[in-house]
Amino acid sequence: MEFTVKSGSPAKQRTACVVVGVFEPRRLSGPAAELDQASGGFLTALLRRGDLEGKKGQTLLVYGVPNTLCDRVLLVGCGRERDFDERAFREAVATAARTLDEKGAMEAVCFLTELPLKGRDTAWKVQQAVQAVEHALYRFDRLKSEPERPRRPLRRLVLAVPSRRELAAGEEAVRVGRAVAEGVRLTRDLGNLPANVCTPSHLAEEAHALRERHPERVQVEVLDREDMERLGMGALLAVARGTSEPPRLIVVEYRGAEAERRPIALVGKGVTFDSGGISIKPAQAMDEMKFDMCGAASVLGTLEACAQLALPLNVVGVIPATENLPSGTATKPGDIVRSLSGRTIEILNTDAEGRLILCDAITYAERRFQPEAVVDIATLTGACVIALGRHAHGLLSNHPPLANELLAAGRMSGDRAWELPLWEEYDEQLKSNFADMANIGGREAGAITAACFLARFARKLRWAHLDIAGTAWLTGERKGATGRPVPLLAQFLIERARRAADDVRPGARREKA
Ligand code: BES
Ligand code: MN
Ligand code: ZN
Repeated sequence: MEFTVKSGSPAKQRTACVVVGVFEPRRLSGPAAELDQASGGFLTALLRRGDLEGKKGQTLLVYGVPNTLCDRVLLVGCGRERDFDERAFREAVATAARTLDEKGAMEAVCFLTELPLKGRDTAWKVQQAVQAVEHALYRFDRLKSEPERPRRPLRRLVLAVPSRRELAAGEEAVRVGRAVAEGVRLTRDLGNLPANVCTPSHLAEEAHALRERHPERVQVEVLDREDMERLGMGALLAVARGTSEPPRLIVVEYRGAEAERRPIALVGKGVTFDSGGISIKPAQAMDEMKFDMCGAASVLGTLEACAQLALPLNVVGVIPATENLPSGTATKPGDIVRSLSGRTIEILNTDAEGRLILCDAITYAERRFQPEAVVDIATLTGACVIALGRHAHGLLSNHPPLANELLAAGRMSGDRAWELPLWEEYDEQLKSNFADMANIGGREAGAITAACFLARFARKLRWAHLDIAGTAWLTGERKGATGRPVPLLAQFLIERARRAADDVRPGARREKA
């Protein structure tokens, strides 16, 4: 999709379609009122006849609006004006995009970005609009014989900004929105691919493809089973024992700043299929365990966004990737292994495999890169889905400032996280009679005890953990990867880059988030 920004009056747009908002009950938004005035009350008359109440999700495509230069006008219901919030804004934009795509308008000028939104400026609205449109029009049909595409898809969208002074900021917002959307798309594609295609080696190839797209700033290194053995990654290897699909530890380095600058490490769980291993899962919805590599996918997606934006930061992605299957060589409940850190782990449940591959990846990241901060991203626990549902990522951290940065990035991007406590009382649930720790902490507070396990490997680090088990994919009719938490992570890094720039310009003032 091509996006541009423009300022001007809706009546004067020479285009296939002008998009304006209508609030409930039948109240024209500013740009809609302008059109109405130019057309001699044409829209008011339509609304009076009861064609559109203005409820969320409603649309009305109108032809022949007098004294306009456009072929048609799309009215989009935005709900009550005083309830018009960030979510309503994104939904209105998504509804507009889907309608335009279906109706064959192919290009349009959208004035929804001029609707006032408390606390959000034009740049925010433009960036969010770009992401919402790309999100709404995303399809995963590469494995269908007959792609499901509209005959005349939406190709070009012009986003209106209220004044010429805002054009430059609007253009920059388009650039950022596109980069984040591309990262989200990559993450969704990888998540949606089935496990027989998206294997650990496939993830490694995707990392190489990322380097090919950005050879000047991205480097990739891939460790195989022998490398892991040599290094002593007993926890990661314990998970990989059950499958003949070769495991990989994928290291992607993005260099946007001087080499001396310590990187931010993103560690992503890459279990390309989680059957549970010997502690096997029930058959019900087991297909969804192909999404158990969405943490890994979000690391690649975030690095793609980073590279497209050429952020002045160093970021390193570390992705432990393996299948978790039962077999004659698989790890058994009660087996004890030695992690890369040297500590021993009693594997009481082979389905708690995410933390096993992550603990070695975190230790590896620490030793190799001395990162400034580590954020791990994992579809780690069903318990997190019970605690927070499908709306917020679970966030646990040993460093409050880092937690706050991530929470703020979530609010800014609309890709929100919610913090859970990481207290010693919970950590005590991990004790083992036979090893330094067990890999499970009982039924209670499962999302927290999983994070406590990881925290034991991050004591010397500024570390945060995002449990995305509830948010990385949707179930039911809309089953599919969401691309989350790429928007949150991209926003976090954008903000970090801004801060780094301020550091080298003493006296520079930062805007309030
Ligand atoms: N990948 C799963 C977590 C998961 C389950 C994500 C369902 C989304 C939906 C993870 O590897 C797992 O199996 N966790 C176990 C941990 C338990 C054995 C302590 C769980 O949540 O049941
Ligand atoms: Mn599991
Ligand atoms: Zn898993």
